[in-house]
Amino acid sequence: MCGIIGYIGKKQNVIDLLINGLKSLEYRGYDSAGIAYLEQNEIKVIKAQGKISSLEEKTKNLNVLSTLGIGHTRWATHGKPSNENSHPHRVGRVTLIHNGIIENYQELKEMLIKEGYTFQSQTDTEVVAGLLDFYLKQENDKLTILHQVISMLKGSFALGIIFDDDFNHLYAVRKDSPLILGTTSNMNFIASDIPAIIKYTNQYILLENKDIAILSEEKIQVFDENLNPVNREKLTSPVSIEEAKKAPYEHFMLKEIMEEATLLEKLYSLYGFGTPSFLEKLPDLSKYEKIHIVACGSAMYAGLVGKYMMEEYADIETNVYVASEYRYQKNFYSNKTLVIFISQSGETADTIACLRLVKQLGIDTLALVNVYGSTIAREVDKVLYLYAGVEIAVATTKAYLLQVALLSMLVYHTALAKDLLSEEEQEKIKMSILELPKILDELLKKGITYEASQILSKASDVFFLGRGIDYATSLEGSLKLKEISYLHSEAYQAGELKHGTISLIEQGMPVVTIITDERLIDKTLSNMKEVKSRGAYNILITTKDWISSDDSVDLAITVKEVNPLVQSLLIVPILQLLAYHTAKIKGCDIDQPRNLAKSVTVE
Ligand code: AGP
Repeated sequence: MCGIIGYIGKKQNVIDLLINGLKSLEYRGYDSAGIAYLEQNEIKVIKAQGKISSLEEKTKNLNVLSTLGIGHTRWATHGKPSNENSHPHRVGRVTLIHNGIIENYQELKEMLIKEGYTFQSQTDTEVVAGLLDFYLKQENDKLTILHQVISMLKGSFALGIIFDDDFNHLYAVRKDSPLILGTTSNMNFIASDIPAIIKYTNQYILLENKDIAILSEEKIQVFDENLNPVNREKLTSPVSIEEAKKAPYEHFMLKEIMEEATLLEKLYSLYGFGTPSFLEKLPDLSKYEKIHIVACGSAMYAGLVGKYMMEEYADIETNVYVASEYRYQKNFYSNKTLVIFISQSGETADTIACLRLVKQLGIDTLALVNVYGSTIAREVDKVLYLYAGVEIAVATTKAYLLQVALLSMLVYHTALAKDLLSEEEQEKIKMSILELPKILDELLKKGITYEASQILSKASDVFFLGRGIDYATSLEGSLKLKEISYLHSEAYQAGELKHGTISLIEQGMPVVTIITDERLIDKTLSNMKEVKSRGAYNILITTKDWISSDDSVDLAITVKEVNPLVQSLLIVPILQLLAYHTAKIKGCDIDQPRNLAKSVTVE
């Protein structure tokens, strides 16, 4: 999604500040970038299609000390990636950057054209700049102008605005798109996310929907949608500057995978697993008779793993839904239904829309979220944080793993509350969970996916197979490979492949099969023989070393067997490393894959 940074305060090398801020937002995904800054009492705008390096090329000989500037990385929604469509947009005496979508921009554009405005771009954003300029001709009070324009906009918007008649202030508006305000004694910022400003401050303010902020060098004023002055919560971000760097790793994605064992241990500790406080740290779900899990992408796949666990161990019917479908389909609830939302960013538009729909129906809601204070975290009845830290790589790894880990703790907690586990079963699960971080740490350091990655890197199509929870895990393995290596891949229920799709199996096609479920070994092994007899190259990921000697197995990766409730937490990192090394061999842009955005804040 688009990235926003803005600054007002004591004179700085504003171009460095803006460009470095935008660089730290690259992970959000973009296809062009631009900056605007105050120089000799006028606003200069420089924009470039492509990576931020193109923008740096245009600014490399500039050394401007300035008190005011805004910057933007654009993930195209209206209008192709181009200079003209890049932000900031300037119309008349207004310069503006925007993250979100203005759904009624066409009718507003037509109204402005009738008023004599012409537009240089195909964007909805330029129309907002025109609208502000239109009202600036009639009214000087910026709050009045902003209130009027906000009332006319439909859709989502985080705006950074400079008015030519007021260079002592930077204006910001937030509705349904993320925007934070960074504060210091003599510099103030707007940003999409904390990494953009962490070099200057870890103190920030979260805006509520339809808030208007007026920033000057020495202070920040916030007004609610009725123009009442409000004091929004001031927070200290735990993010460190080091966290926003990838060293000593080549990619953020590898760094974030290698952090997983430490983060798993931290999650168990923060939720008091294995201690008496554990029971209070998590909500009691035992009263619910039905659970809906609603999410998108990898978060939805984590939910699918959760489904298998919740039904198997806590005996609660659980169904998983893609958010973009859930909000339009007929859903069935009772007063004993819980809807769980899973979201790393807490800003995914489709998931937010479902949350608001469910809350209107008065249904209980719970969310598993990584970003503190994000929209979903603030609007859900109860939020459980992942404590994964900032996830910079666009393709999620550590957040997905912690979503599954947190779900497994929730399942265990619910099974305890329903008295469904014997003492022996409780002990086995506890032992497995408490030793898991150490086992995972050793596994991550073994680097056991190189050979398999070599095979995948030469393929054009890859299948992932599994049954039950292994199928759920294979979905994420397939998505990870697609996202960062651009290889076509498909995860399939192992038993279903023979009902048609097996026709796609060709000589030498890699098929990655996951077998961890004791009850399903024979059946899944048969499926491996079926594809082997049609030419497939079988890569097996398993906990049962003896299967590796079967003649249908071409290459095996074995991981330690732990309690089934948490076994997938050892399989997923293997799949993540498999995707990572395959993408690396193929020379792909691993941290910022083409077309992808870290948080999809449009529907
Ligand atoms: C990125 O690797 C994921 N594959 C992507 O599908 C993500 O899970 C999805 O966009 C949901 O994002 P969220 O977790 O921030 O809501």
